[in-house]
Amino acid sequence: MQGPDKDIKFPLENIDRLCFLKNIIKNPNIIVGDYTYYDDFENVENFEKNVKYHFDFVGDKLIIGKFCAIASDVKFIMNGGNHLTKAISTYPFSIFGHGWEHAMDGKEHPYKGDTKIGNDVWIGYNAIIMPGITIGDGAIIASNSTVVKDVEPYTIVGGNPAKEIKKRFSKNVIERLLKIKWWDWNIEKITRNVQHLTDMNLEKLEQSE
Ligand SMILES: CC(C)(COP(=O)(O)OP(=O)(O)OC[C@H]1O[C@@H](n2cnc3c(N)ncnc32)[C@H](O)[C@@H]1OP(=O)(O)O)[C@@H](O)C(=O)NCCC(=O)NCCS
Repeated sequence: MQGPDKDIKFPLENIDRLCFLKNIIKNPNIIVGDYTYYDDFENVENFEKNVKYHFDFVGDKLIIGKFCAIASDVKFIMNGGNHLTKAISTYPFSIFGHGWEHAMDGKEHPYKGDTKIGNDVWIGYNAIIMPGITIGDGAIIASNSTVVKDVEPYTIVGGNPAKEIKKRFSKNVIERLLKIKWWDWNIEKITRNVQHLTDMNLEKLEQSE
């Protein structure tokens, strides 16, 4: 046995509220890695509804790595939600036309870039991730947080605005984990090491063939 089939929608038998996320995504601007799962209290189709203000004409991407765990009601705010912040008014005159259509000529709304979530990231219930944020590998986002700044690898953040709660491991251990990148191993090697991945015996991972 080499783990669950990464290409099926629902890896838990008779349960359709937890999905391997990449297999339910329809929007080509949402890119999700293998084994990342999403759990939803009602319907997993809510995931794309919770990627807010994500318009094709803006073209920004939500990129999520492998082996992430994403809880119900997590929301991603994308760049289509940005209004002018440095002008006198934030009001989007141009969309209403009738003499206002040229209000934005030669101007652009703020654009923060793609949203990038690393590998083995756990995003807690009801967290909100703002546009252009990068969350490093192995990070944890506490429930109900609003993430407004990049999160370093293996860091726990929480609150609104989300602040660092603590590093998960020492600097040395984090460096070694980022070198190992276990999520990029082939599935046979991951399967051989599942017990080491769920304890703290780093040497075993480093020595693993
Ligand atoms: C982030 C989390 C993992 C921390 O767990 P922990 O390591 O056991 O940490 P503790 O409970 O000891 O809390 C550590 C600190 O974080 C703070 N904290 C915990 N959760 C927080 C939250 N959601 N928002 C803000 N701060 C939070 C605590 O107040 C504490 O602060 P202090 O050090 O100033 O006293 C946990 O609180 C959490 O949010 N888990 C997500 C649960 C979830 O949504 N699951 C969905 C199913 S996948």
